[in-house]
Amino acid sequence: MADSGLIAKYNIPGPRYTSYPTVPYWNVQQWDIRKWCQLLAISQQEEPAKHLALYIHLPYCDSLCTFCGCHKHITTNHAVESRYIDAVLREWKLLSASLDKNSTIHELHLGGGTPTFFAPKELKRLIEGIKSVFPFTAAAALSFEAHPISTTRKHLEVLHDHGFRRVSFGIQDYDPVVQKAIHRIQSFELVQSCHQEAKAIGFNAISHDLVYGLPRQTLSGFQQTIRCTLQLKPERISLYSYAHVPWIKGTGQRGYSESDLPNPDLKRALYEVSKQMLVTHGYVEIGMDHFALPADDLAKAVVEKNLHRNFMGYTTNSSGLLIGLGMSAISESKFGFAQNEKSTARYLEMIESGQLPITRGHEMSALDIEIRQHILNLMCRFETEIPQTTLLNRLELELQLSELISDGLVEWKKDLIRVLPKGIPFVRNCCMAFDAYLKDQNPVKQFSMTI
Ligand SMILES: C[S@@+](CC[C@H](N)C(=O)[O-])C[C@H]1O[C@@H](n2cnc3c(N)ncnc32)[C@H](O)[C@@H]1O
Ligand code: SF4
Repeated sequence: MADSGLIAKYNIPGPRYTSYPTVPYWNVQQWDIRKWCQLLAISQQEEPAKHLALYIHLPYCDSLCTFCGCHKHITTNHAVESRYIDAVLREWKLLSASLDKNSTIHELHLGGGTPTFFAPKELKRLIEGIKSVFPFTAAAALSFEAHPISTTRKHLEVLHDHGFRRVSFGIQDYDPVVQKAIHRIQSFELVQSCHQEAKAIGFNAISHDLVYGLPRQTLSGFQQTIRCTLQLKPERISLYSYAHVPWIKGTGQRGYSESDLPNPDLKRALYEVSKQMLVTHGYVEIGMDHFALPADDLAKAVVEKNLHRNFMGYTTNSSGLLIGLGMSAISESKFGFAQNEKSTARYLEMIESGQLPITRGHEMSALDIEIRQHILNLMCRFETEIPQTTLLNRLELELQLSELISDGLVEWKKDLIRVLPKGIPFVRNCCMAFDAYLKDQNPVKQFSMTI
């Protein structure tokens, strides 16, 4: 267990590094859509980039969970569905004009918000429309996020018929006290029936999302949540650290007070105790917040050293180009990032007037590209090698890492920087030592706490 003194010292606001540079530090002033379309063309000249990874953001939810940090739009008016699907398909057509005509889709993920807010027939229309522009590869991996409350047998059947084999269910916590605090009531029986239905239909990679650090969580309550999860034995478990970011407008995180949150020591203990239980039951720990059974692709990626991380978190795909469609979605190429409009109303208006809805982005410098790779290496493998040709200032990096090294959390031998087992809970702090943008600009209030 990480010691209290270290937790108190290193628990500071910091990025989760699903991208580098992180969104608040993008050079939006020097960026425009024309430049992004050129960057797309350049990155597609590299062969693997013809295999696209596609992320589609489906923002609607019927009810607000007060802990939620996602880009979502709460409504019970399901008349919004078809207009939104029309918009995503139109966006895809508009964007495809800037993509290589021989592109294929190698990975597709439907995220949100709540994809299962949409009726199965709208999801079917979405997938068929996507496929009509570029085909899926034979080994394409198709996945979606499902809220157990709105997932019907028909959803699972339609998506399975269209090639989906992976589904992740949002669970968070089974403790009724925590569920009340976060305004999200869902019983174990409901999850069990959804999980078993998905398995019976043929989903062979089921994932459960759990969150530690939520208001009113206790060790014994969360151990019970882990026991329930082990009863269903999903192939993958995401054990997310609760990101408390109440200053982001519309998160609804003001529904409980700070005093309801576990203190940093308890929060870390919630992770460590869960980890112990999961490892004892055969799960492998992956990166800083995932677990998988050894036969799952994510666990295999660790062994084969090709684990990757992007806006969706840890993934097995490292295809050069990730295209995000839908409100707030982010696209990533080797040379830059782009993000769509974050208001659903403005996103729809932009598409309907024939414009790409991209509102900001970042063009990578050579130094950004090198630092991104080091951060990816640390987040995925807990080590990175500094090449002789590095663009980093070694002295500066030594200074930034010095405390982590003297606290026994990191070692630097010859060219290899390694996060030691004791330093794993502090991997985000180690990445921050590499982050060139944090040096002049204090990250306070932009990010959640690192532990
Ligand atoms: C888009 S939601 C999942 C799908 C569906 N909307 C649901 O809630 O079941 C993605 C996941 O992000 C995680 N999440 C959301 N807000 C979070 C926060 N503030 N901190 C940590 N994880 C969070 C939750 O585990 C959630 O299941
Ligand atoms: S956790 Fe899921 S259902 Fe709840 S508000 Fe967030 S995106 Fe919507």
